[in-house]
Amino acid sequence: MVNERRPDDMKRITTPELAKAYIDEQIALLREQVGDKKVLLALSGGVDSSVVAALLIKAVGDQLVCVHVNHGLLRKGEPEQVIEVFQNQMKANLIYVDATDRFLDKLAGVTDPETKRKIIGGEFIEVFAEEARKLDGIEFLAQGTIWPDILESEAGIKAHHNAGGLPDDMKFELVEPVRILFKDEVRVVGKELGLPDNMVFRQPFPGPGLGVRCPGAITRDRLEAVRESDAILREEFAKNGLEGKVWQYFTVVPDFKSTGVKDGKRTFDWPCIIRAINTTDVMEVTVEHLSNELIDHLVNRIIKEVPGINRVLFDYTPKPPATVEYE
Ligand code: XMP
Repeated sequence: MVNERRPDDMKRITTPELAKAYIDEQIALLREQVGDKKVLLALSGGVDSSVVAALLIKAVGDQLVCVHVNHGLLRKGEPEQVIEVFQNQMKANLIYVDATDRFLDKLAGVTDPETKRKIIGGEFIEVFAEEARKLDGIEFLAQGTIWPDILESEAGIKAHHNAGGLPDDMKFELVEPVRILFKDEVRVVGKELGLPDNMVFRQPFPGPGLGVRCPGAITRDRLEAVRESDAILREEFAKNGLEGKVWQYFTVVPDFKSTGVKDGKRTFDWPCIIRAINTTDVMEVTVEHLSNELIDHLVNRIIKEVPGINRVLFDYTPKPPATVEYE
């Protein structure tokens, strides 16, 4: 298999020159492996799948078919950015599936966190497999597997979601052009491939997306409050030089309401919780302490601009005992 294991003596990719050498080497390997056949890729817009897409576009052009499934739980502007970068700029063969209604209908009234996760994961495979079945002549499936995935699955820490759990009738040979890279190397390679900084240096984002930040049964209005408040938080972190410095930051809108007052009238709305954390291994997490000015500014913007929010709270709990995400 191509790129099976990271060579022991492989130099860490830290410079544009080393990234360029890796890109050239992988393009040659991809052309050799794929020949004139077609490759399918689930393009989430995350850094790993984006770098895989950019490498394959360089290597085999429109033999790559990218499928971007919008499950309705993405952050503000994400599906638009995938279309802009890959379809408009890189001229990728991109199938965009807006499956928002399908996911949200299935999730309606579901409160149990694990059930929500299973519905989101299962439906994702379903939508992706449906798109794949419509295509002719696909022989390869590209994946953004990275080296820590292999190490963790070998150590029994987490199962590497190989081939994404596709149904048995769909057998593809795997193409994994970043398999031997560590995350920081994927970013250096992505930058060299010309991907935008906010894609290359983006913070981790869970597969079930904003679904786990809208605790309990997801409703469209509360989900919108999560999406809008998250966008404000990201914008303010970027403006205040915290983007790329703080490991992960997001908002949560829990399913309860409290009394407030606005323009002399009573309100009964949700709180918005802000969580900003730092870590190296995500097993232990510390909280980022924000400046008083930034706290005041965030509270102001969120209560003014996000419909349905009348209170802003800050989660200052480390992990353990709290996990990063709420579900
Ligand atoms: P927890 O909540 O377990 O989160 O402390 C640790 C890190 O993992 C991310 N996370 C996920 N990532 N799929 C993912 O790809 C998931 O289902 C998932 N759940 C949590 C979380 O954002 C944090 O960075």
